[in-house]
Amino acid sequence: MSELVTLTQDGEVAVITVNNPPVNALSPGVPEGIAEAIAKISADDSIKGAVMIGSGQTFIAGADIKEFGKITSGQRKEGINFLDVIKSIEDCPKPTVAAIHGTAFGGGLEVAMGFHYRVAVASAQVGQPEVKLGIIPGAAGTQRLPRLAGVAKATQMCADGNPIPAKDALAAGIIDSIVEGDLLSGAIAFVKEKIASGEKPPKTRERNEKLGDEASNAPIFEAARALAKKTARGMMAPLAAIDAVEAATKLSFDEGVARERELFNQCLFSDQSKAMIHVFFGEREVAKIPGIGKDTPQIAINKAAVIGAGTMGGGIAMNYANAGIPVIMKETTQEALDRGVATIRKNYQNSVNKGRFPQEVMDKRMALITPQLTYDGFDQADIITEAVFEGMALKKEIFSELDKIAKPGAILASNTSTLSIDEIASATSRPEFVIGHHYFSPANVMRLLEIVRSQATSNEVIATSMALSKRLKKVGVLVGNCYGFVGNRMLHQYGREAQFLVEEGAKPQEVDGALYKFGMAMGPLAVGDLAGLDVGWRIRKEHRHLEKPGVRYAKVADELCERGRYGQKTGAGWYKYDENRKAIPDPEVDALIEQIAAAQGIARRVITEEEIIERTQYALINEGAKILEEGIALRAVDIDIIYLSGYGYPAWRGGPMWYGDTVGLKKVYDRVCQFHAEHGEWWTPAPLLKELAEAGKTFAAFDKAKAATA
Ligand code: 3HC
Repeated sequence: MSELVTLTQDGEVAVITVNNPPVNALSPGVPEGIAEAIAKISADDSIKGAVMIGSGQTFIAGADIKEFGKITSGQRKEGINFLDVIKSIEDCPKPTVAAIHGTAFGGGLEVAMGFHYRVAVASAQVGQPEVKLGIIPGAAGTQRLPRLAGVAKATQMCADGNPIPAKDALAAGIIDSIVEGDLLSGAIAFVKEKIASGEKPPKTRERNEKLGDEASNAPIFEAARALAKKTARGMMAPLAAIDAVEAATKLSFDEGVARERELFNQCLFSDQSKAMIHVFFGEREVAKIPGIGKDTPQIAINKAAVIGAGTMGGGIAMNYANAGIPVIMKETTQEALDRGVATIRKNYQNSVNKGRFPQEVMDKRMALITPQLTYDGFDQADIITEAVFEGMALKKEIFSELDKIAKPGAILASNTSTLSIDEIASATSRPEFVIGHHYFSPANVMRLLEIVRSQATSNEVIATSMALSKRLKKVGVLVGNCYGFVGNRMLHQYGREAQFLVEEGAKPQEVDGALYKFGMAMGPLAVGDLAGLDVGWRIRKEHRHLEKPGVRYAKVADELCERGRYGQKTGAGWYKYDENRKAIPDPEVDALIEQIAAAQGIARRVITEEEIIERTQYALINEGAKILEEGIALRAVDIDIIYLSGYGYPAWRGGPMWYGDTVGLKKVYDRVCQFHAEHGEWWTPAPLLKELAEAGKTFAAFDKAKAATA
């Protein structure tokens, strides 16, 4: 036996242990090891039953995701096939029990379902999360799960990919018992009972009683498809997963498995799956920062303070309260403070009403937030986050004040979305403790936290911020200091092109419509209306001195603001809004756009969807390449993760840089050059884009090469 799988014996019970850290994935050698152990167990008369357990933190967390890329790139010739080993477990003549702790995910749950029985500790979770990788279960999960859990539960689990806790798995019939105390002892006791009972070990594949009939199943599949089209718009895997579960209800087990395999392969070889696997590893990669490791000291964060109780300040305070960290929230007027507290209360109440958590949780979280008008207690805070209006003078005034109040060693964070952290830090005597914590609106919901290092920020403050982002359930991405950092600097180019396209002849709803169809959560103009057009207007006024004469400037948004059209909050922006906040195209806006275009001598023309996508996406990619070569982002994948977790970019496209790789950087570069010739300076090609395009390389290869030399 290999070291990956060991076989020991406890009297008449054999114990198979999977030992493939960190998550006991089914890497090459693991399924073979399990098959070998089962063969020995079947052949050995002294063994009457068997238990399989995972060593370390978890049972098997699934197939080894690294193998998928090898298969699709042709590096690995044979596909993934766990079907035979699972069948051999199921055919073992002696009772077998899977003992589950941690996570039995994907192939892990599929293997567990081949066992005759499953027991788990209460903290365990089971799930078929494959759709989150753009694939579907590929080892008969879509065939065995409905046989254990029924069609509705299996459809839901395979289509949304969300795990369920042991308690729910027991209720659904996926596991047979919850073990209190030591898992292995409990599992051995369980199998001994089965040995003593003489009960014929049940084979999941033969258990057809929960498969329902056409009349009862049809509405389940119809509802699941409608939900998937809404919640996973544009994604093929959830629909394929539903098709595969449906096959379980209509075909024999073996035919159902064949259908599942066909659908699995279609998904695996799709661009969507490649993109989502890139995202899976990317989300973990962004936590790795050269020069910062486990040995970098961190500052203990036990108390926090936030300045500002507006949309951002309130959301940030909620993040701390949600993580169980007491937080002071300061405002300058009682009215603003009361408004902020009322918004937080309303947000929490909504969650309670929707059943996300009970009233006691809300009460506890509210009690962790101390609203006040003074700096009392700020000298005790381990971290203070400023979230006031975007204006350098005000921010510097606040940081100079904080410098006098905060205790030595406290982190001073700014939630600025554009301004220089170096300059803000210069207002203090301790720039090494100053950092940007750029949250995204609504700050209590959006997962992204851009962590902006200044020239002086210490490694200790960076390491603490990265760890804190995890505690706050955010995806922390470290970026360098420049105007707009990574996300907003790129957004500026994207939004600019959206507006230029409108000036050149596309209607606002055509620009938004094309990008929504591309997969964006919302079109850029509708996002502007949601966020408030006055926010950008204020920032543009602050930076007017940076504008270059003779370089084209998008005028419509400013003109909308001049007319008091700030977006949804004033009932009108790029669109007008009815009482249900439904966006309605507004002829007044069309007239204004035509007037602005005419004044600038812009000839209006028909603009295709393809051009809308190219102009907006390539603007993102070109700026992303500049950001990358300037070292503002550590890796291309960091940019992708920023866009996926903060800007509503579709995960199945992998992020803007990955999308560029998918299109081919040569094509992107050629179009950028054409746009440069047609539209001027904004489109100056990024030297890195040129270099990669000419060398036939990708951003992913750039990241790999950089990692190899780090
Ligand atoms: N394959 C390969 N590597 C994996 C992996 C997997 N299935 N699951 C996790 N890892 C790696 C991570 O990349 C990470 O590596 P790193 O330390 O080098 O960055 C390391 O294991 C630890 O992972 P996390 O940082 O995510 O650790 P957590 O403790 O936060 O989470 C987890 C653990 C809940 C298991 C989480 O890693 C997870 O959800 N993993 C993916 C599970 C999954 O999707 N399984 C299905 C795979 S597809 C499949 O099984 C197909 C089948 O139907 C044929």
